[in-house]
Amino acid sequence: MDLGIRGRKAIVCASSKGLGRACAMALAEAGCDVVVNGRNTEVLARTAAEIRERFGVGVEEVAADVATPEGQKALLNACPSPDILVNNNGGPPLKDFRQLDRAAMLDGVTQNMVTPIELIQAVIDGMAERGFGRIVNITSLSVYQPIPGLDLSSGARAGLTAFLAGVARTVADKNVTINNILPGKFDTDRIRKTVVFAAEKAGISVDEQAERTANEIPARRLGRPEEFGHACAFLCSQHSGFITGQNLILDGGLFNSAF
Ligand SMILES: NC(=O)c1ccc[n+]([C@@H]2O[C@H](COP(=O)([O-])OP(=O)(O)OC[C@H]3O[C@@H](n4cnc5c(N)ncnc54)[C@H](OP(=O)(O)O)[C@@H]3O)[C@@H](O)[C@H]2O)c1
Repeated sequence: MDLGIRGRKAIVCASSKGLGRACAMALAEAGCDVVVNGRNTEVLARTAAEIRERFGVGVEEVAADVATPEGQKALLNACPSPDILVNNNGGPPLKDFRQLDRAAMLDGVTQNMVTPIELIQAVIDGMAERGFGRIVNITSLSVYQPIPGLDLSSGARAGLTAFLAGVARTVADKNVTINNILPGKFDTDRIRKTVVFAAEKAGISVDEQAERTANEIPARRLGRPEEFGHACAFLCSQHSGFITGQNLILDGGLFNSAF
């Protein structure tokens, strides 16, 4: 399917690896020029080079922390009028909630709630004026279903989801959409860390825990990042103008619910 977004400009935050990278790849495959981002310049440069080589689109590299005002400024300087914004970030570390002091809690809320809202504030009016905008936030299945050690991440992302539910309705008539994708368990560096954390808690080996993790998923496997990227690209496509304010769970059936 032609997604109808060839030549569109996309900022994909935290996209040198993992799910963000897969979103940047899929958008580039659809013909978008992309801004990619991450803090490690070497990893970022490798991803940017691969996208250029595979898809021949324009790729800007922004090596910066997306959660800082400077990082956001650098992203917006690289692409002042984006048609597409994919909000993503690393997420707080796994921790028992008792170990979180105030600074850690505020940091988590800044990363996973305040930062995406600030970027949306910066781009949404331009999108509305131009009559096209697609905003996708990478959140987490933990918004619906708690994950041990990720309470801060869940809380901040649930706050983001509730905040944007109203905002999405204010721009729907301008062909600007805001949706969230909720990953369950995808095969990335981040998920490997959660497997190590769970193995330590359960007192079993990492391999044994990895097998348990896969077996808990009805699909009996972890998600592939490219599956995530293609779903994101569809939500950013010209065909998705009537989908807004939604939470798309991608989890191989893990969330056991009829609705
Ligand atoms: N994988 C899953 O199954 C899963 C499930 C639920 C939720 N999530 C959430 O989805 C998001 C992406 O996860 P992932 O699995 O793709 O993680 P990942 O494989 O660890 O990749 C994270 C990417 O974000 C970049 N990054 C991290 N902090 C950043 C910052 N402050 N500024 C700019 N870039 C930053 C990293 O590059 P640098 O480190 O070089 O900056 C890297 O490119 C996370 O918020 C995670 O909590 C993932």
